[in-house]
Order: sequence, then structure tokens, then C-alpha cells
Amino acid sequence: MSHNIESTLIEERLFSPSDEFVKQARITPDKLQQLRAEADEDYTGFWANRANQEISWKTPFSDVLDESQAPHFRWFGDGELNISANCLDRHLETRGDKTAIIFEGEQGDTRHISYKVLHGEVCAMANALKSYGVRCGDRVVIYMPMTPEAVIAMQACARIGAIHSVVFGGFSAESLKDRIEDAGAKILITADGGHRGGKIVALKAAADAALKAGCPGIEKVIVLQRTQQPIEMQSGRDIWWHDAVANQAKTCEPEWVNSEHPLFLLYTSGSTGKPKGIQHASAGYLLGAITSCKWVFDLQEKDVFWCTADVGWITGHTYVAYGPLAVGGTIVIYEGAPTVPDSGRFWKLCQDHKVTIFYTAPTALRALMKLGDEIPNQYDLSSIRLLGTVGEPINPEAWMWYHTVIGKTRCPIVDTWWQTETGAHVIAPIPGATVTKPGSCTHALPGMDVDIVDEQGNSITAANQGGYLVIKKPWPAMLRNVWGDEQRYKETYWGMFDGKYYLAGDSARRDADGYFWIMGRIDDVLNVSGHRLGTMEIESALVANPLVAEAAVVGCPDEIKGEAVFAFVVLKDERPAGGVSDELTQQLRTWVGEQIGPIAKPDQMRFADNLPKTRSGKIMRRLLRTIAKGEEITQDTSTLENESILKQLQGIE
Ligand code: PRX
Repeated sequence: MSHNIESTLIEERLFSPSDEFVKQARITPDKLQQLRAEADEDYTGFWANRANQEISWKTPFSDVLDESQAPHFRWFGDGELNISANCLDRHLETRGDKTAIIFEGEQGDTRHISYKVLHGEVCAMANALKSYGVRCGDRVVIYMPMTPEAVIAMQACARIGAIHSVVFGGFSAESLKDRIEDAGAKILITADGGHRGGKIVALKAAADAALKAGCPGIEKVIVLQRTQQPIEMQSGRDIWWHDAVANQAKTCEPEWVNSEHPLFLLYTSGSTGKPKGIQHASAGYLLGAITSCKWVFDLQEKDVFWCTADVGWITGHTYVAYGPLAVGGTIVIYEGAPTVPDSGRFWKLCQDHKVTIFYTAPTALRALMKLGDEIPNQYDLSSIRLLGTVGEPINPEAWMWYHTVIGKTRCPIVDTWWQTETGAHVIAPIPGATVTKPGSCTHALPGMDVDIVDEQGNSITAANQGGYLVIKKPWPAMLRNVWGDEQRYKETYWGMFDGKYYLAGDSARRDADGYFWIMGRIDDVLNVSGHRLGTMEIESALVANPLVAEAAVVGCPDEIKGEAVFAFVVLKDERPAGGVSDELTQQLRTWVGEQIGPIAKPDQMRFADNLPKTRSGKIMRRLLRTIAKGEEITQDTSTLENESILKQLQGIE
């Protein structure tokens, strides 16, 4: 552990928000101080106040936090609300004609959807779901392109208390099947396809394959017509979206649910071969989404907010489908890739839709930065007032580029640290109050008790010494469980410090000024282009191939993706000459793409007669990481049972 968390990066530059920004900000330095003081003084009272101010309750709560079943915490447990009513209905009177969603398809088609229209469409879909027998607590899987209908489907589920589980459209049929089965879903909402990267993503074909291979619980498949490409519709099971909603009323009484009613499941990779269904509750999650939109994004009435994440990830849940709508904002949804028709697409979208707040992943910035300043410089980016990043550490070089070339040195940057499990931002700057440092996510938000501890759980107070990132008090937006696997919930997040602290799974340090710096994962989870991938998951996929006897997967640094996937493979047959085979590599990459999804395809593959193991049979992953980086082996290899294979693994023999 201690080897993983040595810190080398020291950044001295400081950036304060401009007076102009501070003047108009929701949270000024004084206000931030007040919030922190309030949270320090009365932690639960602080959250109760926020919940009373920010949420429209059907039945107000009296019980703020119930810790009696820890680590299952209940927030606002006797309150009742509906998430969709909080995102839509409560704006109808004051913002009914305001644009809720600005949509642009990859091929350039655009749509503006007002709150009133969005409300009607959500109600119609909610009624359709009810007509197919979906009841409160039933699971609905959503496997859609990035279109407004993805948000409509999510909101429709929330409206009737159905629990949605969105599966990223880039996941394969096999992954979709696993998630549908684990969630026990009875309805699948998908599309004929989506436009991405100049091609059509054949979602319905993948859905058909998933349903053919299993998923006996699925009763109906609702299919959005997006691309018009021919697909198969199974009579009695498959219904077009437009037919499903055609005769449905555009009003639907919301299902009033308890605060703790599960809002959604979202599967994410962990350190075993099987992704886990992170289960979020209703009220606490909504509160985290709202407070962070206001505090971190400073989201205000006139803003046009564009979070580039797909709804298949937590970022697309909290900062596309829920948070910005709950605060009555206008969001941009873009269907396609940043490179279509050319690499100016993001900047053109910002210009055309007058985006004021732009939120994306460092990997996208690094890729766009590489292409030079001329491309963004062709566009008018003067509407942008705030920039954000998420998903992985941003290297100071990319931060400075974002600051100067995109933000024209005018816009604060909020580097937001959080996770699928945390539901909303945890460590992030408050743009009108925090002095930022390139590469640091700065400080914990008010009401969040974050610390860095050693193996015994003692706080590390020394500057720049790495340790485990933990959250010491429950918070409203936290996960409630791992769907169907309580043991895993307890072990993964609460096991290390005897149920006292939430273990984030990241290592971090604090500098002499108390700024947090995230250093990376401490488990076998990779962060590839801001997406979480379990090494075990990829290994299981590889080993499932009839050609493969054994596989070990590690990450290695990558200039654009942050981390790349490096697979060491032992074949059942003879090893190809020199340990390299383009043909086999291609074959296995395609296989992993089919098993999990294209994002999990190994970038590099090396074939050996064996893997480096200790005498007790444990694979020496640290050694493999060194080899993957192409670094000299300095660690002790004397415990290695089969030292002779080192040369093969290094690609020398
Ligand atoms: O390692 C951290 C990294 O992404 C992980 C969470 O991944 P996921 O659940 O997929 O959610 C991503 C979007 C919230 C974390 O454990 N991570 C996320 N944000 C940052 C980050 N690492 C450094 N800086 C960040 N801002």
C-alpha cells in the first residue's frame, strides 16, 4: 500500500475567482463560511435545513438521520416526496415555457423542450409504463442513445416509483443481459439505434441478443425510433415508443414515495469479476444533486448548463437527468462524439447554444488539447463563465489549457471529486469562493466530513503524505446498498475501518494548505478515460474465451486516456513467437468488446507461457505494472516461482 501512495507532484500556482464572478455568485466567501460553520455546529440540523429549503415535500420529515441500522443509513426517513414532481411539476407555474432541454443530434438536428412539454412527455411515458403493469418498486432497464427520451424514461420511472437501471449504450449484449438479470427487470426501454462517431450504434440488435441469451423476466421492450434503420420487432413483446405514448394522458399523478425508496440502481465495476448494482435512495440523492448544482456549478436562472456525460454513468444521472432540472435549469444534451464532423464540435455546440457552464472529463480535454488551440479559437466561447471536470485527476497541463484556451483565463474551474457511490460531488471548489490549484479538487463541501487516514484509521495530518480517502460521517446522497448483495456493500465500503468510515477506494494526500489531491485507486480498479473498469472483470472476460488459459490485466499510464488496459495472456495452445500476435490480439480485443463493451478492450496484449506468481500462487501484479510501463524491474523477484518467464513478459524473448 505505502508504495502506491508516494506523492511526487507539487503545484504552486493559485487561481482566485475574479471580482466579477464573485459578485454574481450564489455562494460568496462569506456565505461559504456560514455554511461551514452551520455544518460544524449541528451536522444533522445543517442537512435538515437544506432538505426543508430545497425539496418540495408531500409529507415533511421529522426524523433527519437514523443510524440504528448502520451502515444502512436512513435520511429524512419519514418524509414523502416524488423526484419527478421535484424536477418538473414545481417549475410549471414559474418556468413552464422555459427551455429545460436543448438537444442536438450528432447529425445536427436540434430540439428545444420546455418544462411544460417535458412534463407532458414524462407523464405520457409514466402512464404507458403503468399500462404495461409496472408498479412502484419494479425495475426498468434503460439502454438508450443520448437523446431527451433517455431522460424522459428515467423521469417517468421516478414518477411512478419504478427503480431504473440505466445501462450505458456502449456496453455489450452480454453486459446488458447480466445487468437486466441482476436487477430482475421486467421492462427494457431501448432504441432502434443511436448516432455516434458517424455510425449507428445498433442498440436494439444488442438488446435482442441479450434477451435471446436470457432475461426471462422481461415482459415488454419499448423501442424509441431514432435512426429509422430496419430492426426486428417481436410481436407481443416489442412496442414502439411513439405507439406506447400515443393515447396516453399528458398528466400523471406522481407516486408519493418514502424518502428512502430506491430511485435507481447503477452498475459499476469493483474489484471482483461482477459489477455491483449501486443502490441510491430518493430524497437524500436529490438533495445532494440540488445542493451541488447550486454550490459547485453556481447554477442560476439564465445559465445554459452542459454536462457532456452519458446518462449511462452517474455523472449523467446527477448532472443531466436530475440535479439541473430540480433547480429549474436549462441543459444541453448532445447525442454524439466530440469528433464529428470534426474536433471543433464541442466548441461549436458551446457557441451555438450559448453554453455558460461546461462540464467534461479530463480525457476529452487531453484529446482535444493535443489537436492545438486553432480549433477552439475558431469559435466564440464568450458565453462560458464556469468550467468543470470529473472522473479522474486532471493533470496541471490540461488544467492550464482549459483555463487559458477555453476559459480565456476568465472562468473558474471546478475539479469535482466524487463517485457512483457518493451520488453527488464530495470534494470540489466553490467557484466564487475557493482559490484553486491546477490538479487539486481543493476542499470537502460543507456537510461532508472527508479525511485521509492510515491503515489503522488514524488521520494523517502531515502535509503531502498519502493515505486512504475516507468519509467519516454519513451524508444524504450516499449509496444505500449493493443491490442483492448486502455483504458486498458492508465489506467493500465499511469493512476496512470496522464500520466507522466509508472507504472510497482512492488514495489521496493533503498539501500544506489543506488542499486534497487524489492520487488514484487503491484497489484493482482502472480508470480508463474516466470510466471505471475492474481488472478482474476484464480477466474473467478473457478467460471465458476458449483459447485462453489465464490472464492478468493491469493499468499503464496513457497520455490521453489516463490509464490504458494492458493484458498478459497465457494461451491454452502454444505461445505465438515473440509473445506478440496481431491476429490473436485483434481476436481477443473483439471478444472483450463483445463480453463487456468496447471501452474494456485491452490496448496492449502480451502472450507468455505463464504469469509471474509467488510460490503460493499469487500473481505479482505490481511486477506486471512495472513491466507494462516498460520500466526496469527493481523489485525483489526472488519469491517468484518462475523467474524465467520475466523476459517473455517484458517482450524480450
Ligand atoms: O478514482 C476516483 C475517480 O473516479 C472514481 C469514481 O468513478 P465513478 O464511480 O465511475 O464516477 C466517476 C464520476 C463521478 C473515483 O474513485 N475520480 C472521480 N472524480 C475525480 C476522480 N479522480 C480524481 N479527480 C476527480 N475529480
